[in-house]
Amino acid sequence: MKKKKLKFQVKLNGKKIKTCVFISGAGSNLRSLINCSRDYNFPIKIALIISNKANAKGLLIAKKYHIKHKFISSLDKKKFERNCLMELKKNQIKFLCLAGFMKVLSKNFINSFRYKIINIHPSLLPKYKGLNTHKRVLKNKEIYSGCAVHYVTTSLDSGKIIAKKKILIDKNETEKSLGIKVLNQEHILYPQSIISIFK
Ligand code: GAR
Repeated sequence: MKKKKLKFQVKLNGKKIKTCVFISGAGSNLRSLINCSRDYNFPIKIALIISNKANAKGLLIAKKYHIKHKFISSLDKKKFERNCLMELKKNQIKFLCLAGFMKVLSKNFINSFRYKIINIHPSLLPKYKGLNTHKRVLKNKEIYSGCAVHYVTTSLDSGKIIAKKKILIDKNETEKSLGIKVLNQEHILYPQSIISIFK
């Protein structure tokens, strides 16, 4: 079986695509995806949620919505990825969304999971890859910031961009206010991007 050819070839066939969401924290993007996925016409069904943090608030959201969820420790990255791949296979997951998942996935993981992986990032990629985006954006006195959804590849925040949303930075913007503004846009952009992928 040719691994590369299988990638990106999930067909809808009238059915929702079994999706897993990886989280590490609050899970507000997860909540937005769950809400959208309850719509009959939304292309994905969230069948599994994996957190690499035991105390991630997002796990409570998963519990509230009665969605299968797991904490898998990422202290040992190899073991974490091996366990995740097992769960993804066991649950017949065919699409993976990273939503505030703060760990970089290895080349081996990305190549082993034969389906699409996407991520949302709180900046106008390719600008401000990595952490502390809002702080760096404000320090550089940018006029605009925003968020981007992109395919996950082996280099950090660098895969093909699916969609971006730009917002204007106010004169007295703080890291906190910018974070809230960007996050609100993420909740709209992420579901929109998923719809566009499976159109
Ligand atoms: C979001 O702003 C997301 O873009 C960011 O973490 C936040 C998670 O919020 N992700 C990254 O920085 C990944 N590089 P949430 O847990 O409320 O969805």
